Amino acid sequence: MAQFSDKDISKLDHIYRINLINSCSGYKSANLIATKDKTGTSNVAVFSSLTHLGSNPSLLGFFLRPTKVIRNTYDNIVTSGKYTINHIHDAILEDAHHTSAKYGPAISEFDTTQLAEEYKDNFVAPFVKNSPIQIAMHFVEEYFIKSNKTILMVGEIENLYIHDALLQDDGFVDLSKGKIATINGLDGYAVPELKTRFDYQRPKSEFNKSDG
Ligand SMILES: Cc1cc2nc3c(=O)[nH]c(=O)nc-3n(C[C@H](O)[C@H](O)[C@H](O)COP(=O)(O)O)c2cc1C
Repeated sequence: MAQFSDKDISKLDHIYRINLINSCSGYKSANLIATKDKTGTSNVAVFSSLTHLGSNPSLLGFFLRPTKVIRNTYDNIVTSGKYTINHIHDAILEDAHHTSAKYGPAISEFDTTQLAEEYKDNFVAPFVKNSPIQIAMHFVEEYFIKSNKTILMVGEIENLYIHDALLQDDGFVDLSKGKIATINGLDGYAVPELKTRFDYQRPKSEFNKSDG
């Protein structure tokens, strides 16, 4: 088995290191976050750090890299308070990945790719058309992470749209039915198949005779 100590990691070539450390946490969510700036220009970019924070209230968080260079997504969220989260699926992998290219604020990635904007329910930010899961979000708060100057952006779900085929009777969303992607590292994409679901787990009786 390959082994890397913290000392080894600190000496690695930059590209090797970012590939290694970005992959070792496991498969990550694959989303396009779309916003609109003050002048009406749309923006969309790929993010792999979206995570569930809680169901009541319905909070989702994602991590933003340090804002020392212009980050259109961050600026637009803070200014407008609104953004959409759109799941990346099999049909849009290449265009979704291209949204990571550093375009200036005047250029919309919707114009530089085949990704199409969709507007609904008077929400100011665009959705990514045909994404099987689209979420309208409002910004709640941000946390600065001192150790690496990243920011945890916290938002609350305003509207959740799910293609019918994915939604099961008990509320479970079967992502594999929408060919929804997951991200491996910085540039690897997979489209997983759901293998199984399990019942709610209770302690086995022979281990649960007493707590003492
Ligand atoms: C696979 C992948 C995942 C990414 N995930 C994140 C992320 O979680 N947070 C982040 O700040 N940037 C992430 N990025 C980088 C942004 O997509 C990139 O900085 C983009 O240019 C941001 O666009 P913006 O300036 O329009 O906000 C990721 C890039 C790739 C290729």
